Amino acid sequence: MALITQAPRGTQDVLPQDSYKWQYVEQMALAIARDFGFHEIRTPVFEHTNLFQRSVGETTDVVQKEMYTFEDKGGRSITLRPEGTAGAARAVLEHGLLAGALPVKVSYLTSCYRYEKSQKGRYREFHQFGVECFGASAPQADAEVISLATGILGSLGLANVALHINSIGCPTCRARYTEALHAYFAERQGDLCGTCLSRLERNPMRILDCKSPVCHEIAADAPVMLDYLCDDCAAHFEGVKSCLDAAGIDYVIDEHIVRGLDYYTRTVFELVSDQGLVVAGGGRYDGLVSELGGAAQPGLGFGMGIERLLMTMEEQGVRFPDAPKCDLYFVSMGQAAAQKCFALASSLRDGGVTVECDIVGRSLKAQMKYADKLGARYTVVVGDNELETGHAQLKDMNTGETEDVSLDDGLYAVLRQKLLDSELAGMADLFGSVADFM
Ligand code: HAM
Repeated sequence: MALITQAPRGTQDVLPQDSYKWQYVEQMALAIARDFGFHEIRTPVFEHTNLFQRSVGETTDVVQKEMYTFEDKGGRSITLRPEGTAGAARAVLEHGLLAGALPVKVSYLTSCYRYEKSQKGRYREFHQFGVECFGASAPQADAEVISLATGILGSLGLANVALHINSIGCPTCRARYTEALHAYFAERQGDLCGTCLSRLERNPMRILDCKSPVCHEIAADAPVMLDYLCDDCAAHFEGVKSCLDAAGIDYVIDEHIVRGLDYYTRTVFELVSDQGLVVAGGGRYDGLVSELGGAAQPGLGFGMGIERLLMTMEEQGVRFPDAPKCDLYFVSMGQAAAQKCFALASSLRDGGVTVECDIVGRSLKAQMKYADKLGARYTVVVGDNELETGHAQLKDMNTGETEDVSLDDGLYAVLRQKLLDSELAGMADLFGSVADFM
């Protein structure tokens, strides 16, 4: 029986000492997306199973092997979302957003669930930051979404992440390509895995992203879609490349990117770290909205894996802001002092200072030790004498220097100024190191 003190395989806890890093990248991504006009949408963690079957595709690994699907107590088939696009498209359609001003641009932070073989960078519960843009068909839209993805990585100080792009055409040109693929794989069908054998007739393109090493090897020499693009798709791809060139965004054409989800058309792209980890992936899906029952509208977007993003930042030694610290710890001696500290702490917090005081009833020595463990920047000891005079010593825990402050009207002003000065110094330091990567 599984241990109840052990998280399920493929899941991770984010502990308090690390969660600020998550908040940092998530807030940065949301803010940059906001600058591009993408605003947050929140959709349920579970949806009707057929939403994913329809959008992600029946013949994909995600739908065939990886979904967490169950029947609810009402007998409905429910699936934990394996990705964010389908839910966003469903919500945008359900609420009639596509009948308003176009394009509709949404961003999201979601947990996703895929029953995959868990390994470094691949989890069963993982998190994505993503954006979706509905109602924009021009190549500029592709370039905008791509530049948002690269812009987020740049702002976080990540270098050495390569942009790979490809075009997988539209249903018209893909029909010819699918024929060529079918012929290629049919000749080698004796070596394909069982799943790919069934894909051969239904959707040979899916063989291209099979994770089995033998299928992968066979797929390496298969015909590539770029050779089969129709004139419109070829012109669109040229347009995307020109926009990227004009914006100075480097890319490599990677004709082997097909993406593992069925809804893609035309542009597809991935951001790949120097360790070979795909940090983000996305592309255009011009048939998805009509596939879900809406009036045809083009769409495109990307999903960025937060775990992989953080892992790559750590690997590249990217600087994070300092972990949040306790600004001030009140050490109190006696009941009256404890009460005074409690009241002072409340008003300082109202002014935006992070303050803690004793809530355990510890001795003076134990409180000092705890303040030290917390990494408190400053301490103030309050006992009978301080209560009587209304003055105390503000101690800088780094330097050991002390300063006399009036508890009621001087403490806040002095502390605020000190914190502001050190915040500015920290920001200058951080921006300096980010600038080195640009
Ligand atoms: P995806 O490529 O399946 O695309 O996932 C996007 C990103 O999520 C990947 O590049 C990777 O960073 C992360 N990711 C995927 N699976 C895992 C996993 N098992 N463990 C950890 N991270 C993972 C999509 O999901 C599309 N919805 C993206 C999109 C949005 N396309 C258009 N709009």
